[in-house]
Amino acid sequence: MKIAVSGKGGAGKTTLAGVMARVLAGRGKKIIAIDADPDSNLASAIGIDEQSVAGVKPLASMEEFIAERTGARKGEYGSFFKLNPRVDDIPERFSLTKDRVRLIILGSIPQGGGGCFCAENALLRSLLSHVIIERDEYVIVDLEAGLEHLGRGTTEYIDALIVIVEPGKRSFQTARQVKKLADDIGIKKVYIVGNKINDQQDKDFIRDNLKDLPILGYMSQNEKIAEADRKGVSPYDIDQTVRAEITEIIDTLEGFGR
Ligand SMILES: Nc1ncnc2c1ncn2[C@@H]1O[C@H](COP(=O)(O)OP(=O)(O)OP(=O)(O)O)[C@@H](O)[C@H]1O
Ligand SMILES: [Mg+2]
Repeated sequence: MKIAVSGKGGAGKTTLAGVMARVLAGRGKKIIAIDADPDSNLASAIGIDEQSVAGVKPLASMEEFIAERTGARKGEYGSFFKLNPRVDDIPERFSLTKDRVRLIILGSIPQGGGGCFCAENALLRSLLSHVIIERDEYVIVDLEAGLEHLGRGTTEYIDALIVIVEPGKRSFQTARQVKKLADDIGIKKVYIVGNKINDQQDKDFIRDNLKDLPILGYMSQNEKIAEADRKGVSPYDIDQTVRAEITEIIDTLEGFGR
């Protein structure tokens, strides 16, 4: 299964992506987790310690490597570079692992109008296409609200674009924008997860506002999730509730896939 997680800033993308990766790994699956947020913090949600992360450079800032693979220097606009650089060795060479989860940190790609057409972007997109299309593993991508990273050609392989929402109008607005972008690039399977839920009213509010989108499940407002974040550990390792809720979300998703 190839899963991408999107949603409004702070809605819970990284928490969901990190704990999903751990739940699936706990079931014996091999996972490639991709941190595609420039402000990378998926590692701690997976439970990878700070020292290990400190030793790893995001792929987008590996200038020599980008130059070697694409034939062009980072930020060198208008120069020639390979559109399909070799990327198949990247998951093994440049990743951090925890249990059966392999994490790749992409880092920040310069954004131009409509996305930057430059060497590092070509490398990152090729890598995403490679893991999504060619690798026979679970892939979970922690995205921003935008979908720039998902190049054409990969979209038909995405089994789920999960948009995480809080019970609030701004969050719903982002969800509708993401849905529209998904429609534009041909991603058909868009699902909602409700986060920071206090009661049935919150669930109803989400359902009533996003009627046309299937809901995979909910995560409760949970002090343990915030505590995990403060401690730099995975909620998976300190809280049964979020573990159970995200397990249910995965089961529901797999049900939809059948
Ligand atoms: N259900 C919850 N209960 C309490 N706190 C939560 C819950 N879900 C997420 N949080 C907290 O909200 C903050 C944002 O969560 P998270 O980093 O997962 O969101 P995000 O969508 O990845 O954010 P960003 O847009 O910054 O990448 C974190 O401090 C996290 O601990
Ligand atoms: Mg995040």
